[in-house]
This record gives sequence, C-alpha cells and structure tokens, in this order.
Amino acid sequence: MVGIQKSFGRHHVLKNIDFSVEKGTIHALLGENGAGKSTLMNILYGLHKQDSGDIFINGELVEIKSPKVAIEHKIGMVHQHFMLVPTFTVAQNIMLGSELTKGLGIVDFKKANREISRLSEEYGQTVNTKKKIEDMAVGMQQRVEILKALYRGAETLILDEPTAVLTPQEIKKFIENMRNLARSGKTIIMITHKLNEVKQMCDYCTVIRRGENVVTVHVDDYSEQQLASMMVGKELTFGIEKKPANPKEIKLEVQNLLVSDDRGVKRVDGVSFEVRAGEILGIAGVDENGQQELVEAITCLRKVTSGRIKINGKEIQNTSIANVIKSGIATIPEDRQKSGLVMTFSVAENILLKGYKGRPFSKYGRMNKSEINKFASRLTQKFDVRPKDCAELPVKKLSGGNQQKVVIARETSTDPDLLIAIQPTRGLDVGAIGYVHKILIEQRDKGKAVLLISLELDEIMDVADRIAVIYNGKIAAIVDAAKTSEAEIGMLMTGGGKK
Ligand SMILES: Nc1ncnc2c1ncn2[C@@H]1O[C@H](COP(=O)(O)OP(=O)(O)OP(=O)(O)O)[C@@H](O)[C@H]1O
Ligand SMILES: [Mg+2]
Repeated sequence: MVGIQKSFGRHHVLKNIDFSVEKGTIHALLGENGAGKSTLMNILYGLHKQDSGDIFINGELVEIKSPKVAIEHKIGMVHQHFMLVPTFTVAQNIMLGSELTKGLGIVDFKKANREISRLSEEYGQTVNTKKKIEDMAVGMQQRVEILKALYRGAETLILDEPTAVLTPQEIKKFIENMRNLARSGKTIIMITHKLNEVKQMCDYCTVIRRGENVVTVHVDDYSEQQLASMMVGKELTFGIEKKPANPKEIKLEVQNLLVSDDRGVKRVDGVSFEVRAGEILGIAGVDENGQQELVEAITCLRKVTSGRIKINGKEIQNTSIANVIKSGIATIPEDRQKSGLVMTFSVAENILLKGYKGRPFSKYGRMNKSEINKFASRLTQKFDVRPKDCAELPVKKLSGGNQQKVVIARETSTDPDLLIAIQPTRGLDVGAIGYVHKILIEQRDKGKAVLLISLELDEIMDVADRIAVIYNGKIAAIVDAAKTSEAEIGMLMTGGGKK
C-alpha cells in the first residue's frame, strides 16, 4: 500500500501511509485507539475506498473495489467485531456467498462439510459444523471466521484484534496456529494492542500514530517498552500507583447464589461474597466458569434460582434493570456493541442514555440538546475520546477502543455506589488501559465499591484489592491481592486446591 490517504468528512484519518508485507510472515500493525489501523485494513479488504494512493499485490497494481475483489486477490479478513449470522450454523456461515452446488442450484452440503473438516484439521482446530453461531462462545466464533476466510482461498489473512476475545489458554493455541499458517506460506497481518503477543508471534511490526506512518521494524530488535513508546510518541510508565484500600461498609452482598443458563444448566453454584465501599474485588477465572451468569444475575438480566443479592442491604435479585440502576449500580458490560451502546445514536446521546431525564438535560419532556452536548463534550475530553469534538458523531463511527471509552465515561459519570466492570480494557491501547485502571482506582478512593471481572490475570493482580477465584460456578477462594501470587491464582483458576 503506497501513499494511502483517507478522510471521513473533515476528519483526515490516514495521511500518506505506506505499508508493505512480505509473503509468509506475520506482520503486526500497532497504534493507539483511533490511529487508523482498522481503516487501513478495511481499505485493503475493499470495504472503504482510499481517497488517493495505490495498492499492489505481488507487484501488480490492483483496484480493490469491494470485498469480492479482495477475495479474488486471495485476501481474507476477520473483523474486530465479528460478522457472522447468529442463527445460521457454522457450515452455513462458512459457505455463505460461496456455496458449492451440485448443479440446478442445489447446495452440496456433504462436499462443503468435507472441505470444512479438511481445513479445520489443516488449521489445527476443529469446529462442530452443525452448531449455531449464537450457541458458541466468542473464541469458537473466531475460529469459524478464520475458517471462513481460508475456505475462500485466502493467502493473506487480515486479523483485527484477534486475541482480544480469547482466553489466555486459547491465545497460546492461536499463536501456534498462526505460526503454522505462516510456515505453510500464508501471510498474516495482525492488528493488536498486546505487545507481548507481538513479541511472541510476529516477524515485523509497523507502527502508525494518528494516521501517520512511524516505522516498520523487525520485532526481534525492540523491547515491548520501546514498541509502546513508538506507538504513543512518548515514554510510557508501566505499573500502577495505588495506595492500600480503605474498605468501609458493605455495598454488595451475594449470598448462596444459584443461577442457571438458558438451557437450565446450573452455572453459578452457591456463590457468596461481599464488596465494600472503598475496595475493588476482582473475580478471576477462566472464561465460562459462571462469571457471565453471575454478573447477569446481579444486574437483573437473568433470574436467580435461589439465594440473595443485596445492594446497600436491600434485596434486588429478580427485580428489574430499572431497579438496578436506581439502586446505584453502574455496569461496564463485556460487549460494548451489544449491550453498552446504541450504535446509531450520537456519542452525546449515548453518554446521557441513563441521565437524560431531568434538568438540565430535559425540561417538560423536551431534551435540551445544547446542555447534553456540553456535558458530553466535557466527558469526551476528560476521557480523551477521539476524534476531538465527537459529541455529535454517531457512536458507530468511532474506533472500537474509543467506543469503549464512551461506555466508561457514561458509567462512571452516574456517581454509582457499585461499579461493575467486565473486561473493561478489552481492545484498548496501552495508554488507555493505564487510564481505565486509574479510573477504577479513583472510583474506589472516592468510596465506591468496585467489582472487576476480567480474564486478564495481570489486570486483576494490578487493580484488585481482594481476589475471588471462580471455578466451575463456585468461589474456589478469596485471597488478599497483596499476599498472593500469579501462580497461586492460576492454580485456583484451573481447579487446583489452595496450598
Ligand atoms: N465510517 C467512518 N466515519 C467517520 N469516521 C470514521 C469512520 N470510520 C472510522 N472513523 C474514524 O477514523 C479514525 C480511525 O479509526 P479506526 O477504526 O481505523 O481506528 P483504530 O486504529 O482501528 O482504533 P482501535 O484500536 O480503537 O480499534 C477514528 O477517529 C474514527 O472515529
Ligand atoms: Mg480498530
């Protein structure tokens, strides 16, 4: 890609980007939230058209007008937010748009299934082709996305933040698979914020900052710290400053909770814990050990079979979401697009989603746009949501990381008693992660109770004051963060007893 420029309205997103990738290598694309990584790759995949600049594939000038043309050039892409049809099966999704037919337009499912099985073996991971997407965990869905690209003959695979949705265990396997693909001659471009993964799996790394090229380097020649500094354009300090907690009265109390999933399988099995004002309780655990059902129960998105959930001493289980908000619970949900934002609403409208009723934002049932925008602008500035002055922009036009910042801005602005943060830094760049951690600790120091659910053990260890480890729907142990080790938590997370 040579001299690529792209603007959206007044917003000049890509300024003269050069980007080239060698066959059979894994190439990381690094940059802060909103730097233009997804936009650049969407251009390569034919989803956006560059304003100027050229694209060459194997030395030949090409015009990629649509994903169809990209696929013809053997380029495949797995997006930051998946694009599968939830009610379709794996096989249907993989075949969609490139169905094999037996003549007369009859789809040859047998042949397709055989082909998918062969591919998944080659890729190193199997999927159940008959399962529906909506019944699968995100890690599985990603496998389907990758197989779909390979099914279409992709030689170059673009992956937009592939590991953001994977568990640490899945990441290990994923890295291995990618290495294998590269060894067999496939070319992989990977957008990521995780510098340790860049070090582990990538050969080259290109850094872009605010739409401009910074450098392309051999990954082996640089440390994580150096890569991070190139990305933000200044030295970064790692590590979090945090005073010991000063816990006060109990804000959230969960007693003997039993919760089942949609199929009636028990997922939370007799869980009890409390969170006090002025402390952060972290819930550590491998994905799918009941975290999701636990949070859904606390926020009244799911009925509990038995047990109690009390906020400020008052029972709230099996009531309503409205009641949850009224009780002073704020939530940073796991899936920002599904349950955190109204994608077609503006940034300002999303920020005021819970607070538009009442003055100064509305009067006699009419919303006061200028007050709403003013308030939103203050928050977007405080949280460094980019682009600048984005209050009136539809939230779907922000980059993934910036969308997350909008959710966090709203939820912390409601002055909650209890803040529940579920994977709050997923998809954020290193600078933004540090900022979110600081916000969580700030909330704690303001006397809020904070419940942090995360699959990132580092995050839990850095931010939480106490750590509850969940395994198989049960709390395996609750330990003091200052007195435990990653090894101990890791063991508890995988069902090992406490030493
Ligand atoms: N369709 C669009 N209309 C207007 N602005 C857009 C559109 N798509 C992207 N942008 C803007 O372009 C900039 C770059 O966005 P992009 O999604 O490429 O960032 P990114 O580097 O992928 O960030 P992240 O790490 O947060 O995913 C952002 O400021 C975003 O708001
Ligand atoms: Mg992106």
